[in-house]
Amino acid sequence: MNILITGGAGFIGSHVVRLFVNKYPEYQIVNLDVLTYAGNLENLRDIENKPNYHFERVDITDYDGVLGVMRKYDIDGVIHLAAESHVDRSIKDPMAFARTNVMGTLTMLNAAKTYWDSKLESNKAQAIGLGTEKYPGKRFYHISTDEVYGALEMGGGFFTEQTKYQPHSPYSASKASSDHFVRAFHDTYELPTIVTNCSNNYGPYQFPEKLIPLFINNIRHGKPLPVYGKGENVRDWLYVEDHARAIDLIFHKGKIADTYNIGGFNEWRNIDLIKVIIKTVDKLLGNPEGHSEHLITYVTDRAGHDLRYAIDSTKLKNELGWEPSLQFEEGIEKTVRWYLDNQEWMDRITSGEYEKYYESMYANR
Ligand code: NAD
Ligand code: TYD
Repeated sequence: MNILITGGAGFIGSHVVRLFVNKYPEYQIVNLDVLTYAGNLENLRDIENKPNYHFERVDITDYDGVLGVMRKYDIDGVIHLAAESHVDRSIKDPMAFARTNVMGTLTMLNAAKTYWDSKLESNKAQAIGLGTEKYPGKRFYHISTDEVYGALEMGGGFFTEQTKYQPHSPYSASKASSDHFVRAFHDTYELPTIVTNCSNNYGPYQFPEKLIPLFINNIRHGKPLPVYGKGENVRDWLYVEDHARAIDLIFHKGKIADTYNIGGFNEWRNIDLIKVIIKTVDKLLGNPEGHSEHLITYVTDRAGHDLRYAIDSTKLKNELGWEPSLQFEEGIEKTVRWYLDNQEWMDRITSGEYEKYYESMYANR
């Protein structure tokens, strides 16, 4: 198979690319990424010279560019992760989210359809049995978020695959819209699509605008930890490699036109999670317990801040046998250790040079 992974230079995408390149030497893996502020090819240094890995710097809203890559590598499967992914940025600049997440996904769908239509005669069912009758051997897998379901009350159950979409932020609204387009392409054109909705990921290579890497880095520098509101919002955290394993399984074994929720049944109130992070960083830096707790700083709440997310991933467990492999305490210690051991990676991102680079990227759009 020849597989196109979009957003492969980002946080989750880099873990998916690494898994596929290492696990499937017989596949060609193409990473399509335009390298926004969140895309960093350093995330893939360990696999960039493998013969089955290819990189193409293309914007997902560039139809000709995407189609050209699909033709060049004779793509059979798409795993679509490229997106604007940060809620706070979506509040400041919602248009960028509509452009990339909505128009970009629609462009990806259109390009895949056009390319696979051009090959209808030669489309042959592949041994691993993917695809629909019209597009045998093909698959378009869209990675989405649990945030499309809206917010839950404390103790108010879980998001299941039947939960109604009720997005609140411009980010989640744009992801919800893209999910609808993906499903529409199956229902209208028989494109062999799959959608998964995952809870909050954590682990190595996450851009330090998100809670966990931002706070680890701030503790290291003795900088304030800005806790939104009262810190009582709840998120359901999954180790990123467990998400990548789920993506591998669902890409190969998931049912066409179906939806799977992915999550670890691992809910934490922000303030409790922050205290675990502080404790772990202090322990690994050799500081006395409680040393960095004074950095906690309560700040104005995020606008429209969703109270609680919690995913029910029973369907994925029952149908495909997936379960998270890491206990949270183990995952968070591994994560903190990784950021402390890879300070150069973090420093290059947080340096003024990097900021200038991404500002210029945005200025060009
Ligand atoms: P990220 O922000 O770390 O990476 C996004 C990547 O997409 C970057 O490499 C960026 O350069 C690329 N990109 C952005 N716009 C592009 C464009 N127009 N053309 C080509 N490439 C572009 O994001 P992430 O946290 O790794 O999330 C990946 C996907 O998973 C997203 O679709 C996100 O909605 C979804 N998701 C994320 C989480 C999470 O906790 N991070 C949870 C569930 C779902
Ligand atoms: P984030 O990592 O941005 O993920 P998401 O908004 O997609 O869930 O934030 C996780 C939680 O942490 C969320 O409830 C907002 C909160 N938060 C803070 O309290 N302070 C911060 O500086 C950040 C970035 C997030």
